[in-house]
Amino acid sequence: MIDSNAIEKKIVDFDSRFGRGGHVDLYFAPGRVNLIGEHTDYNGGLVLPVAIERGTYMLIRKTELPPVRIYSENRDKEARFDPSNINRENDWADYVRGVYLYTKRYFGELPPFDGYYFGDLPLGAGLSSSASIELVTAVAFRSLGCEMTLERAVIISRRAENDFVGVPCGIMDQFTVAFAKENCALLINCDTLEHKYVPFNIPDCSLVIGHTGVYRSLSDTPYNTRLSECQSALSELEKKLGPKKNLSEVSVLEFEKVKYSLPETLAMRAEHVIFENVRVEEAVLCLERGDPEKLGYLMNRSHESLRDLYEVSSPELDALQQISLEHPGVWGCRLTGAGFGGCVIALVRSEALESYLRSVPEKYWKATHLDGEFIVTKPEGGARKLEAVT
Ligand code: GLA
Repeated sequence: MIDSNAIEKKIVDFDSRFGRGGHVDLYFAPGRVNLIGEHTDYNGGLVLPVAIERGTYMLIRKTELPPVRIYSENRDKEARFDPSNINRENDWADYVRGVYLYTKRYFGELPPFDGYYFGDLPLGAGLSSSASIELVTAVAFRSLGCEMTLERAVIISRRAENDFVGVPCGIMDQFTVAFAKENCALLINCDTLEHKYVPFNIPDCSLVIGHTGVYRSLSDTPYNTRLSECQSALSELEKKLGPKKNLSEVSVLEFEKVKYSLPETLAMRAEHVIFENVRVEEAVLCLERGDPEKLGYLMNRSHESLRDLYEVSSPELDALQQISLEHPGVWGCRLTGAGFGGCVIALVRSEALESYLRSVPEKYWKATHLDGEFIVTKPEGGARKLEAVT
């Protein structure tokens, strides 16, 4: 977390960019990493993510006159928009524009503001940098006088992402970034949004995020194709099984009975989703029992399923997963997030952490000639206001 000296410096930067005067508030929203339960959220299934210590900070000050002025330090880009005429411009500020637009639609008028974004979350790495910027913005609108609940912030942020930016993601990222709790994983039923905090109860175990160094944005991947394949698989299954709300309502037994009637690709996609839900349920028991060995086993099976059945891995993700598994201190490792690039998550024995961080990056570089980035993290809390700063 940022310390008070660093905050002071950011406020100086804020003032020199936007001018002095008026009260400034500081908000934070984390990134997220998913322990298990991948590509299940848009199929009404189960996910088990944690929020991470890295995230997006936002300094905000209400202003009297338009335009809205926002600056992203990570991208070194300023953007402005007229609150009464909001259009998509295909840049980073669309996340903010979208959240502003839907907040205004829901709450009525919203004053203009100056916003200064900074943070330590790698962008386009599959750690939910977009949900993090959406949620920090939505929650920061409390400083503009709107009574934004976390539930509403999630709905508005998801709409911004789906309907304004145009990425048809599920609910996992926004929900986790909003509702996560320190030292807990968050089990979410993405159909009903029922959720439960599962204490991260594994002693002497570290979570390491390994970024392959391959960046991607969801809109440049076959994410949409997977979504429509799942819809087609559901329609095919319904012909045999009768109406179902979603793929996650199909049990393993039902699937086993009728899978041969499906075209091969659709059967592969459905099999991943249906069995991944079972793995999530088992992973919850592992966290509750404090069983890293079984949890690691489930993570490895999840990776294989994502690689072979769902086909969303990449040579770099497979290399990093394999190299991680070869390290004796690793219980399990899998790609996390949408795939096609981005990160793996490894469950590492704490006493082996140092040697993991010494040897794996080097081996990964030898295998791919890419510089990976390795982040050791703990489950962090969700989007919130930080101590008053001025
Ligand atoms: C991306 C999406 C999520 C989810 C994952 C895959 O992160 O934003 O909604 O679908 O991919 O599990």
